[in-house]
Amino acid sequence: MIELHDVHKQLGDREILRGLTLTVPKGKNYVIMGRSGIGKSVTLKHVIGIFQPDRGKVVVDGVDMATVTPVDLRELRKRMGYLFQNGALLNWLTVAENVALPLREHTKMSRSEIGDRVMKVLELVGMDHAAGNYPARISGGMKLRAGMARALITEPEYVLYDEPNAGLDPIMSDQIHNLIVEVRDRLGVTGLVVTHSRACAFTVGDIIGVVDDGKILEEGTVAEMQKSEHELVHQFIGGGAD
Ligand SMILES: Nc1ncnc2c1ncn2[C@@H]1O[C@H](COP(=O)(O)OP(=O)(O)OP(=O)(O)O)[C@@H](O)[C@H]1O
Ligand SMILES: [Mg+2]
Repeated sequence: MIELHDVHKQLGDREILRGLTLTVPKGKNYVIMGRSGIGKSVTLKHVIGIFQPDRGKVVVDGVDMATVTPVDLRELRKRMGYLFQNGALLNWLTVAENVALPLREHTKMSRSEIGDRVMKVLELVGMDHAAGNYPARISGGMKLRAGMARALITEPEYVLYDEPNAGLDPIMSDQIHNLIVEVRDRLGVTGLVVTHSRACAFTVGDIIGVVDDGKILEEGTVAEMQKSEHELVHQFIGGGAD
């Protein structure tokens, strides 16, 4: 379970988060929607500890991220996968080397074990044919799928997905959404997903939270949110899937 309690965060001269509270129950996907620049990526970065709240707390499986020892923080991070916005691949490594990186850093697995695991997860995201390519030579959608493979390679219990379908065509988007659902249902992964896409929210979201003014304006299931009285909520999830 991931819990954010009353998180406040100032960056530069702006208070980006102003009392953000949300809970992601174990084995569920919580989808965060909200305007560009509102603080969605900043929220995810609090969960892996890139940012610390000025006030409030982030608790993962009962462990407060602010008081965790460095050793426990490392252990916790091993159990988390992160799909960065736009994939964030290292340009000087091939797709396969990028995907292998978390295993090289965090485990003592042998080269051949790592190679096998990398090919399996690349197959899962439909990228096995591009294993030897460098990021500069692949499309935005392929980068994102490689980023997804890297997020899943350590078989994490938690995955944070920052705009998993940005720049993908509708067919590829559907594949990624289905993959996120599969990862939840088959592996029991708990997910925190940032997206602007209704199709994504409708397919993967157990709970949708719309963030505005640094906090959750409203949260609920898709059906609940469609009955919302807030105009902003309508703008994000009113109507059918896009
Ligand atoms: N490291 C940082 N230092 C200073 N300001 C930052 C930093 N990271 C983010 N910000 C600011 O925080 C605000 C929220 O950024 P964030 O990236 O969370 O937006 P977002 O909701 O993810 O937007 P988008 O939908 O465009 O990805 C922005 O104004 C951004 O400029
Ligand atoms: Mg963002």
